[in-house]
Amino acid sequence: MHCTHLIAADTWYVGASDRRLAKFENLFPIPRGVSYNAYVILDEKTALLDTADASVSGQFLENVAHALGGRSLDYLIVDHMEPDHAATIAEVLLRWPEAQIVCNAKTVPMLKAYFPASAGKVDEALLVKEGDVLSLGTHDLTFVMAPMVHWPEVMFTYDKTTQVLFSADAFGTFGALDSNIFADQVDFARDWLDDARRYYANIVGKYGAQVQAVLKKAAGIPIQVIAPLHGPIWRQDLAWFLGKYDLWSRWQPEDNSVVILYGSMYGNTANAAKALAGCLADRGVQGIAVRDLSVTDVSEAVAECFRASTIVLAAPTYNGGIYLPMAHLLEDLKALSLQNRTFALIENGSWAPMSAKLMAERVGELKNCTLLDAKLTLRGTLAPAQYADLTALADALAAAVKA
Ligand code: FEO
Repeated sequence: MHCTHLIAADTWYVGASDRRLAKFENLFPIPRGVSYNAYVILDEKTALLDTADASVSGQFLENVAHALGGRSLDYLIVDHMEPDHAATIAEVLLRWPEAQIVCNAKTVPMLKAYFPASAGKVDEALLVKEGDVLSLGTHDLTFVMAPMVHWPEVMFTYDKTTQVLFSADAFGTFGALDSNIFADQVDFARDWLDDARRYYANIVGKYGAQVQAVLKKAAGIPIQVIAPLHGPIWRQDLAWFLGKYDLWSRWQPEDNSVVILYGSMYGNTANAAKALAGCLADRGVQGIAVRDLSVTDVSEAVAECFRASTIVLAAPTYNGGIYLPMAHLLEDLKALSLQNRTFALIENGSWAPMSAKLMAERVGELKNCTLLDAKLTLRGTLAPAQYADLTALADALAAAVKA
């Protein structure tokens, strides 16, 4: 059965949610599922904006057919070619063979690479570039190029008539939609923000400069609605979410707080991490997060690093190197270009502690990050004689948070 929603004049949500997929991109756990949003505009001409992942193709195609109500499809606008949105393009072209693809020049080789059997349709595509206008009748669509947010061909489509910005992956989030498709119909800050941050940090996080560029373009456009390809649609409090994107894309923290990320084989490093968290709470630090990297997915740890101003890394030495879950996190932080943070270290090594030195080298590869001199070196468990070192580290961290 169809499940469509009117989001603006003549503009229908025709997407669908997957609650069975375990990992987005086969990497990121999504226990709350994910939505693949797509939209139909009905005017003198009709347009479908993006398709959907193969997993929801049945629901998606039923929604498109219902929204069209027996009309033909004039345009298939391809804002993004990643298969979670593009996988159903060939099926759409089979069902509505009259549809003309609308895309930019960078999209063409990707369309041919993914859909070689549709190469003829691709050759007939209407190619658009920044600022071009496509009139559907009363709805005039224009196009905003958004390269590397987070693929090279990405563009936003903007409906000048309804002032809806179809923003591709930007402003998206993990999480299935429960038919309350608008952000103002849910408690976004309570129930969605963590997943939105995790989505941004891990999927788009590397491309902050490109996000900043497109945010500047968006600032010059009157926007009533932001309609992303994942998660809730925004028609209220747009400035609040745009503000989050501005912080994230400049790698600026949301909270002056501390996240303590630890690896621990037998609980001794964990014990020190928890004792440090207690000392920080005693010093008035709020919003502390303590995470065990052996049970916390690295995508969640990355997201916490995007949230907090100050990061404590605590890990044993392992085979003369860094305990592997911590090494994985550090690799991700570098790949995502995390910047502008203060770090502190706790290491453990029963006979030859090396992890602080090695973690310091990795932190040194991150732009504009400060490493506190204060650190803890454990030779097993946290010894009572080290209490002064612990409190000195807590003092230094509390001062960094308040600076
Ligand atoms: Fe949701 Fe980049 O695909």
